[in-house]
Formats: sequence, C-alpha cells, structure tokens
Amino acid sequence: MIDLSGRIALVTGASRGIGRAISKKLAAQGAIVVAAARAQNARETVDEIIGAGGRAEIASTDVSDARQIDALVGGVLERHGRIDVLVNNAGIARDQLMLRMKRDDWDAVIATNLTAAFSLTQAVLKPMIRQKGGRIVCISSVVGQGGNAGQANYAASKAGLIGFVKSVAQEVASRNITVNAVAPGLIETDMTRAITESVRGDWTARIPLKRLGTPDDIAAAVCFLASDEASYITGQVLAVNGGIYM
Ligand SMILES: NC(=O)c1ccc[n+]([C@@H]2O[C@H](COP(=O)([O-])OP(=O)(O)OC[C@H]3O[C@@H](n4cnc5c(N)ncnc54)[C@H](OP(=O)(O)O)[C@@H]3O)[C@@H](O)[C@H]2O)c1
Repeated sequence: MIDLSGRIALVTGASRGIGRAISKKLAAQGAIVVAAARAQNARETVDEIIGAGGRAEIASTDVSDARQIDALVGGVLERHGRIDVLVNNAGIARDQLMLRMKRDDWDAVIATNLTAAFSLTQAVLKPMIRQKGGRIVCISSVVGQGGNAGQANYAASKAGLIGFVKSVAQEVASRNITVNAVAPGLIETDMTRAITESVRGDWTARIPLKRLGTPDDIAAAVCFLASDEASYITGQVLAVNGGIYM
C-alpha cells in the first residue's frame, strides 16, 4: 500500500490528461499536491482533489520560462518549507517531417519538454539535499526510446530526458534522491485525440495488450516511483506502453 501522507508533490502539466491523473492519484495517497499549468488551467484538477477530500493548490506557471519556474519553486518552499516529489510532466508536440520542420517548432518542444525539466530539477535539488531525500520523475515517451517519423523534435526531447535522468540519478543517489523516468506508450489524452481512427486502429493492432493506455496507467507508475516502496530504484526508465516497445 502506497502512503504519501504529508509529502509535498509538485506536478507540472497538471491541468489535464496524464498530469491531472498523476495529481489526483498522488493526492489520493496523501500527498499535498501543487498542481502547475499555465494561467488558472489547473483549477479543475485542484477542485476535483479537494472535492474528494484531498489537499491541493493551484500554481500558474509557463515552464518554458525559467523565471516562472524559480518563482514556482520559491513559492512552494515559502509555503511548505520543503518539496518531496517533483513530476516533470508538462509537454507539447509540434509534429512535422524533418525536411519541413521549422526551427521554432524544434525550439518550442525542446524548451517545454527538456529544458523545463533541467530548470525544475535544478531548482528542487538544493532543498531536497537539505531535507536529505526526494523523488524526481520525468515523463518521457516510447517515442524517446524508439523514435517516430514526423517527431524528431519530440523524440529528441524525450530521449534527452532519459539521458538526463540517468546522469542526475548518479549525481544525487548518495543524497537519497532518486531520479527516474516513466515512458508512456500511446495514451488517451488531448495530445492523442487528433489521431485519426485508422491510425489509432493500426496502433491498437500493434500493441500486445490490444488497447491504448489511460492516464491512470501512467499515474500508477509515477506514484510507485514517488513512494518508499521504490526507494532502491533510480536512473530507470519504466515503460508503460502495453508492450509495444520492449
Ligand atoms: N498522450 C500520450 O500518448 C503520451 C505518450 C507519451 C508521453 N506523453 C507525455 O506525457 C506528458 C503529458 O501528456 P498529455 O498527453 O497529458 O498531454 P496534454 O493532455 O496535451 O497535456 C499537456 C499538459 O502540459 C501542460 N503544458 C504544455 N505546455 C506548457 C507550458 N509551456 N507551461 C506549463 N504547462 C504546459 C498543459 O498545460 P496548459 O493548461 O498550460 O496547456 C497540460 O497540462 C507530456 O510530457 C507528453 O509528452 C504523452
């Protein structure tokens, strides 16, 4: 049984999809969740958590802006004095074949998916070292493991997270901080809603477990890695993909 009672957990991209499911599951297991997204977009997530008897607060942050990240982490530390769990989940896709990909689309995806994880992780490490422990989980992707035509920018950002996690894990293991990645396959969220029925059918046929994943499938893996049960796991990539990439 996972017990995260009283842990302070910061989740980016908490307004919908996977980030919302992660926030709700962390809160259901006792964590106090800081749900971050742009503007007031995480309001519904926070309302749902509080409605279910959990504890959560909203944070307005654009993770592609390093100053906003400093303000976010500074605010959490001011209010709670510690930060136990960081989930780097916010992410975007700007798909295009390489020959046509615009530099802006490369930059935006790297900034949101990879550089934000660098800034957030750097901001939480000092407090985690001071408090003698912490958990960092980055949401990578099966695309970061196997690549995908039309997603060179997205694949580079998600593969980058895997190298990032393995490197930082080695740096901070002696401080009782674990750093891991979860690599989802195709998950039912806004990000994948635009996929046509025929592509969805093709994917489903190729997935050994014969279904797309749900945000809750990913949330369960993140909660495990955030828990005491996973205290001997670091620098790993936990694939939650129905078996499509082994
Ligand atoms: N869905 C999949 O099949 C799948 C598969 C593998 C990996 N993933 C990864 O899982 C993560 C969540 O994906 P999802 O499917 O839940 O996506 P989603 O439904 O599109 O949600 C994306 C989340 O990221 C936030 N976000 C985007 N840009 C941001 C920015 N600049 N600043 C702050 N927040 C920002 C959004 O918040 P706003 O309200 O601010 O827009 C939203 O909460 C992503 O990293 C994605 O790459 C998804």
